[in-house]
Amino acid sequence: MKLSSRWKNILIFGGTAAWGGLLVGCVVVSRTALAPPRIAGATFVGSKECAQCHEAQTSHFASATHSRLALAEPKVGDTGCEACHGPASIHVKSGGARGTIVNARKNPETCFQCHVEKRGELSLPHTHPVLAGGKVSCGDCHDPHSGNAVKGGALNLATANETCTTCHTQQAGPFIYKHNAMLEGCTACHNPHGSVNQKMLVARDDNLCLRCHLEVAGTGQIIVGGEDHASRLQRGTCWSAGCHEAPHGSNANSHLRY
Ligand code: HEC
Ligand code: HEC
Ligand code: HEC
Ligand code: HEC
Ligand code: HEC
Ligand code: HEC
Ligand code: HEC
Repeated sequence: MKLSSRWKNILIFGGTAAWGGLLVGCVVVSRTALAPPRIAGATFVGSKECAQCHEAQTSHFASATHSRLALAEPKVGDTGCEACHGPASIHVKSGGARGTIVNARKNPETCFQCHVEKRGELSLPHTHPVLAGGKVSCGDCHDPHSGNAVKGGALNLATANETCTTCHTQQAGPFIYKHNAMLEGCTACHNPHGSVNQKMLVARDDNLCLRCHLEVAGTGQIIVGGEDHASRLQRGTCWSAGCHEAPHGSNANSHLRY
């Protein structure tokens, strides 16, 4: 389990089992960076309260990445659900009246309070439409209520790719000629949050492919797939120069031409 140092400084974690070795003191560096959403007049009630009405979200919450974190504010106590949904006293008292609670599907701001860098990534020129229009939400790719917050997690790549192919059916295959890069996941080539490059690619030129395919470079030769590509690489990118236009897999050509 990786834990970046910024979190060590600003958060304490509730669960000792998984995070035991990482438990750190309650050092509040930046309050604003981790304040839960505000709801006028409301106070925190704790996650237990939610169970009576929202079993679907509470029943597996103990397994969720986010159930293990608590705000570095002793007085707030168990704010598991409310860290994202805001203080719920009015919501609970009113039996769930409209407009009494924050829903991150409609408002990703609640995630940015802790993941501030994601606002920047999602503002890059090529992004998923999370901020503008809200056609895609953090929750389409992340499960806040159970298991690994990254759907499919690090270990289950098939599920991770399915997260993407539920919407992007064309890239799902099956293809007669597979591209084994897909076994490394869509994120081998795309940054799902955003990129300065077209199609959210992690690199804008041949380096996207050469990271995995470069065999020999030097003496004027660039050997890729057993053949010298030095002159070919001048014609455009590997996928736009009329050579490998099917980077996800092909039904026509083993060299992923179309
Ligand atoms: C007494 C029952 C009750 C309790 C307790 C309760 N809720 Fe709700 N909640 C509701 C109802 C009813 C709705 C509306 C459901 C709907 O519209 O389908 C709702 C809706 C929601 C929504 C969606 C709101 C939206 O605008 O889409 C969220 C998020 C939510 N509750 C979170 C919580 C959290 C977090 C807790 C515990 C701190 C909690 N609820 C406790 C009854 C409750
Ligand atoms: C890490 C942030 C986070 C935490 C913690 C969290 N939720 Fe949510 N919750 C979300 C997001 C994101 C959505 C919207 C999901 C989507 O886009 O479909 C959501 C949606 C909901 C909804 C509305 C579901 C619907 O169908 O509209 C309810 C109810 C809810 N959460 C209850 C809870 C309860 C109860 C807990 C604690 C056990 C909890 N949440 C903890 C982020 C969180
Ligand atoms: C109260 C602060 C807080 C809020 C609010 C919050 N997170 Fe997190 N989140 C964390 C911490 C702390 C971690 C674990 C430490 C880490 O990996 O950086 C984490 C981990 C994650 C991870 C997994 C990182 C990994 O490497 O496995 C994802 C994905 C994530 N959060 C998404 C969200 C989304 C989406 C929302 C809004 C619905 C949200 N978070 C709201 C604090 C928060
Ligand atoms: C289109 C799918 C998608 C959307 C939408 C999305 N994410 Fe992610 N996110 C991912 C994937 C996939 C990963 C894992 C990245 C990897 O494996 O390289 C990830 C990783 C993360 C991480 C942990 C690793 C890191 O990059 O810091 C955080 C935190 C996170 N996302 C937060 C968010 C928040 C907050 C939102 C909404 C504002 C959001 N994501 C929207 C797909 C998405
Ligand atoms: C909830 C549906 C949904 C999910 C899940 C989803 N996407 Fe998307 N994706 C979209 C939408 C909507 C667009 C914007 C399309 C447009 O603007 O025409 C988009 C755009 C893209 C683009 C850029 C296309 C272009 O024309 O610039 C890429 C690449 C992409 N997504 C990859 C991914 C990856 C990788 C994942 C999984 C981590 C993923 N998507 C998950 C809905 C989704
Ligand atoms: C080997 C690198 C690589 C991998 C892995 C990869 N892609 Fe792509 N993807 C590309 C390239 C290159 C393009 C740009 C193609 C173009 O512009 O014609 C692209 C374009 C796209 C587009 C835009 C298509 C369009 O017609 O505009 C979507 C959507 C997309 N990829 C989704 C995915 C999904 C979903 C996955 C995982 C299942 C994935 N990609 C895995 C390299 C990759
Ligand atoms: C994450 C690593 C990775 C990336 C990035 C990657 N590939 Fe691949 N590619 C593979 C693997 C693994 C194979 C199968 C083994 C082999 O033939 O080397 C493969 C096979 C191929 C083949 C089939 C070779 C043959 O004759 O069977 C072509 C063509 C190809 N890749 C083109 C590309 C292009 C174009 C890009 C950039 C858009 C790219 N690859 C990016 C890993 C990658």
